[in-house]
Amino acid sequence: MAEIKVKNLHKEFGVGDDRVVALENVNLDIEGHVFVSIVGPSGCGKSTLLNILSGIETASSGTVDITQDSHDANPGYVFQAARLLPWRSVMENLMFVQKERDDEARARCQRYLDMVQLGDKGDKFPGELSGGMQQRVGIARAFSIEPDVLFMDEPFSHLDAITARSLRRELHEMWKQTKKTVLFVTHDVGEAVELSNRILVFAKGGKLEDDITVDLPFPRDPSDDAVAVAKAQVLRKFEELDLLAT
Ligand SMILES: Nc1ncnc2c1ncn2[C@@H]1O[C@H](COP(=O)(O)OP(=O)(O)O)[C@@H](O)[C@H]1O
Ligand SMILES: [Mg+2]
Repeated sequence: MAEIKVKNLHKEFGVGDDRVVALENVNLDIEGHVFVSIVGPSGCGKSTLLNILSGIETASSGTVDITQDSHDANPGYVFQAARLLPWRSVMENLMFVQKERDDEARARCQRYLDMVQLGDKGDKFPGELSGGMQQRVGIARAFSIEPDVLFMDEPFSHLDAITARSLRRELHEMWKQTKKTVLFVTHDVGEAVELSNRILVFAKGGKLEDDITVDLPFPRDPSDDAVAVAKAQVLRKFEELDLLAT
């Protein structure tokens, strides 16, 4: 089980007239096997938050504490684009991030490739795969290091609706089986409601405006009434906060 504690997190870019507040005094506590989505308009600090949590970016002030059971694994990260190494095969892309590149690691990588329906594509190169398949490889790679915490930054936003939908289902299944703590950035409220136990709503200026619990059974079908109602509730919140216009 993992725990993420964020206290008074503040991030500014630039100085003087160029100064931008990306995150303003964010406080957050996330624990255990939960799927947390971060939603909000473009530029409200979602990526900055994930980047600070994962250590890609440093905070201006405030603290981040991440405790994981598997002490030596860093959190996994899935980006908007898969960011695979084009000159390495799919299997080699997964093996590249393993601590020990032994038979056990190879079997583990194969298992995660199977989970994303690419068990037979290990020898292919990224350029031979569709965008959706490449993103699946990126997801398998992040899971294959078996971190307790996984950060995902709009991983499906470049995919067509049908591919995104099937990847959401696979991701949900993997989250359920592997009991990870997932922090998932999206600007798609429907996607957030379909996947999450909890939705954090950010507004311009990097303010955490609301923390919504979505207490519905999984799997969630977007055409179900209860799911549609939950989505409408989040969208109403957006309207109240005047986030829809941006
Ligand atoms: N490296 C950077 N240098 C300067 N400004 C940045 C940088 N990264 C992000 N910003 C600014 O910080 C704000 C938040 O950006 P970001 O976290 O990317 O938002 P989001 O992911 O929600 O779209 C934006 O105003 C953006 O322009
Ligand atoms: Mg972003």
